[in-house]
Amino acid sequence: MAKLRFGIVGAGMISRISCRDIAAHPEVEIVAAADPSGERLEDLASRYGISRTYADAAALFEDAEVDAVYIAVPNALHAEIALQALAANKHTILDKPFAMNITQAQSVAEAARATDRVFMVGMNQRFERTTQKMKKLVQSGALGDVYHAKAYWRRRSGIPRLGSWFTHREVSGGGALLDIGVHMLDAALYMMGNFRPVAVTGATYTRFGNRGLGEGGWGASEREFEGFDVDDFATALIRLEGDVTVTLDASWALLQEDSNRMDVELYGTEAGGAAYGDRLVKMGEGPGEYVVIQSPSVPELIYPHMSRFHNFINTILGTEQPCVTLDESLAVQRILDGIYESQRTGSEVSLQD
Ligand SMILES: NC(=O)c1ccc[n+]([C@@H]2O[C@H](COP(=O)([O-])OP(=O)(O)OC[C@H]3O[C@@H](n4cnc5c(N)ncnc54)[C@H](O)[C@@H]3O)[C@@H](O)[C@H]2O)c1
Repeated sequence: MAKLRFGIVGAGMISRISCRDIAAHPEVEIVAAADPSGERLEDLASRYGISRTYADAAALFEDAEVDAVYIAVPNALHAEIALQALAANKHTILDKPFAMNITQAQSVAEAARATDRVFMVGMNQRFERTTQKMKKLVQSGALGDVYHAKAYWRRRSGIPRLGSWFTHREVSGGGALLDIGVHMLDAALYMMGNFRPVAVTGATYTRFGNRGLGEGGWGASEREFEGFDVDDFATALIRLEGDVTVTLDASWALLQEDSNRMDVELYGTEAGGAAYGDRLVKMGEGPGEYVVIQSPSVPELIYPHMSRFHNFINTILGTEQPCVTLDESLAVQRILDGIYESQRTGSEVSLQD
């Protein structure tokens, strides 16, 4: 069978990593890439032997010999470029966050539902071994009734390069919350199997980037913007249907002991667990006794390939179901919007229809 022909839109930092994962699938070849930066485009093309390069996405979408595309561009372009890809009849995997806001996300979802192409928001944290294991443990009932999760990704000094699009709201839509909070929120809801938000209270802070502090090293784009107008810390309490709550913390910059802390801790009636910590805590035999099980075993992972791209490709090939659904991605976007709205209004935001 002929291989699925892949096009890459955006030749920045994440595409360098993603292409390795895409190219690892035996049924795929990466044939084209697009980026207005000739330098980054040539760099990506030479790393992965990509033969056709385009200065803009529209030209790549006109390439009839591209079947599927991966979109990894600044957030403000996500919806616009995803809509173009779907209109050109390409299977589409879009990197996170889904969009700048729920209105944009809904327009893409509508277009995706109207085609027979596969569309997926590529949530790579769902495919981590640890996430997959914890999802299995929850499904098996090992934690009992899971009523609370603590999801966090806190970096001490991890602002993508100051002055790049990441730190400019008009192009990014938000800071740490949209960049890394989205991952842990999505992973927590996935593990709990609950994408039914009821309400959210949140607060966001800008305390370091605005002082030129807290920079990490991420991102390949130019430093082209003045100032810093996004959150470098965000915190939220999310209420889900079924009397379930999630707390979410995301920071690019925070004065904490560790340089990086991330996990989804789940609390159930039979066990607690830390997904990335890979452990369960249970009551022991006697009163006051507790047992910590490090690396609890599960029979097999749901996606042994542990790759968002392999799931996307296998969905196109008809051998797997999509792990990330449109409804789930829309629910995550509504929560993120709600956190920013709660910060603006100072009140809890209802997310019920
Ligand atoms: N899943 C993850 O873990 C993960 C990690 C990092 C970034 N991302 C996401 O991937 C996207 C890209 O992030 P990055 O870190 O690679 O950023 P980056 O700044 O390193 O690269 C972005 C690239 O997009 C290009 N670009 C801009 N406009 C374009 C257009 N119209 N057509 C084609 N290319 C265009 C830029 O020239 C640049 O090369 C962002 O949405 C980000 O949130 C996801």
